[in-house]
Amino acid sequence: MASTSNDSLPISIHNINPKVLECEYAVRGEIVALAQRMEKELLINPGSHAFDEILYCNIGNPHSLGQQPITFFREVLALCEHPSLLERNEIKGLFSEDAIKRASQILKQIPGKATGAYSHSQGIKELRDAIAEGIKARDDFPADPNDIFLTNGASPAVHLVMQLLISTEKDGILCPIPQYPLYSASIALHGGTLVPYYLDEASGWGLEISELKKQLESAKSKGISVRALVVINPGNPTGQVLTKENQEQIVKFCKQEGLVLLADEVYQANIYVPDKKFHSFKKISRSMGYGEKDISLVSFQSVSKGYYGECGKRGGYMEITGFSADVREQIYKVASVNLCSNISGQILASLVMNPPKVGDHIYESYCAERDGILSSLARRAKRLEAAFNSLENVTCNKAEGAMYLFPCIKLPEKAIKAAEEADTTPDTFYCRQLLNATGVVVVPGSGFGQVAGTWHFRCTVLPPENKIPDVVSRLTDFHKAFMNEYRD
Ligand SMILES: Cc1ncc(COP(=O)(O)O)c(C=O)c1O
Repeated sequence: MASTSNDSLPISIHNINPKVLECEYAVRGEIVALAQRMEKELLINPGSHAFDEILYCNIGNPHSLGQQPITFFREVLALCEHPSLLERNEIKGLFSEDAIKRASQILKQIPGKATGAYSHSQGIKELRDAIAEGIKARDDFPADPNDIFLTNGASPAVHLVMQLLISTEKDGILCPIPQYPLYSASIALHGGTLVPYYLDEASGWGLEISELKKQLESAKSKGISVRALVVINPGNPTGQVLTKENQEQIVKFCKQEGLVLLADEVYQANIYVPDKKFHSFKKISRSMGYGEKDISLVSFQSVSKGYYGECGKRGGYMEITGFSADVREQIYKVASVNLCSNISGQILASLVMNPPKVGDHIYESYCAERDGILSSLARRAKRLEAAFNSLENVTCNKAEGAMYLFPCIKLPEKAIKAAEEADTTPDTFYCRQLLNATGVVVVPGSGFGQVAGTWHFRCTVLPPENKIPDVVSRLTDFHKAFMNEYRD
């Protein structure tokens, strides 16, 4: 690595864009850097720590923890990546009939079968057609392929929308607290103001309209022009799934207040409780009779989450409705500056939104893979939730969806003082000690925002199911020892 400080260089930490300095992303922050260092130490010198492996519970990156890709999706991708395979005699013995059929269909839609070529800035039209079909099947309301912009995951789509909405620090974006730090980071990078609204932990991370109103008024009184409301459903880091009634209230609120609704729906396939269902905000607003003229809505979807979990393929899309033609042209222009999103991600997004159907030969095995992953995630979530709730001074809401638990720890004064002396926040102090003692990596609640004076951490439900008992016993033993050391 280059030297860390050199006064002769034109760029220093003192003259880079201050917005870059301001931006934070705890999911890959200090605790993770420490974990990676420890992992190297364990490799070079096994026995250098009290555990033999690091257990990463910090990031929603399913395949890195052993979740297997869906066979059909990968078969189609492989064939699209190397189309000459389709001309080989042995192909039928190697790939399923449905994958061969789908890949051939997709390749026909790509001029010259050239998956290495740039596509239309919004993504290949026929893949957007397939996504629009999938949205229609999901919502029972039509979707227009021209409203869809394929992106390298949901993150660049969020940045693009923030760029569109934020001109100065007087432009505010209402964001949940706790929130996924993509939002705070993106607002900081674009120089806007994050207007926080607090989710109510006592009611299972409920979203109260009275809280939205209060925070909106407070922002307005400070001269902030609030442009949009971010809703993450199912929630990250909080794992709640909104009720239909609550979603209707949110849609109404956005219409009344003239706010763009930014619906982060990347966890739409991750629902673990029978009494909750995912409803897209598009479906909710259309079923309320709201059309293009009533509400401006951007829905984000990704191939990174769900049972597919293909984070590294970088695929996703945003569906933009209720925007005027001239604004859409500007969005198209900015998307064009990036030329197009990667083609494998585009293909995968079309597969995720248009998976095998009843009647396809592969349907049963596809369902078995999908349901196996989702039911295992549900069991892991339940097991971890019960473990957290059995700990002294810890309470944890249910993970109804998404991939995380966000337990609250009532830390003793003595621990808070010790954190102060260590010049860190109490939740970071706890997470660092947990890592040092057990090798379990979680993210301090302060990276997501939390009510002042409360302390949390985020733990993913992604470690392989056979490792969950180990995660639970390491956490439990550590917590008991920590409380014995710091109890007031
Ligand atoms: C709520 C939420 N939105 C967006 C993203 C970004 O996902 P990607 O850029 O991989 O699509 C994540 C990733 O963890 C997330 O949790």
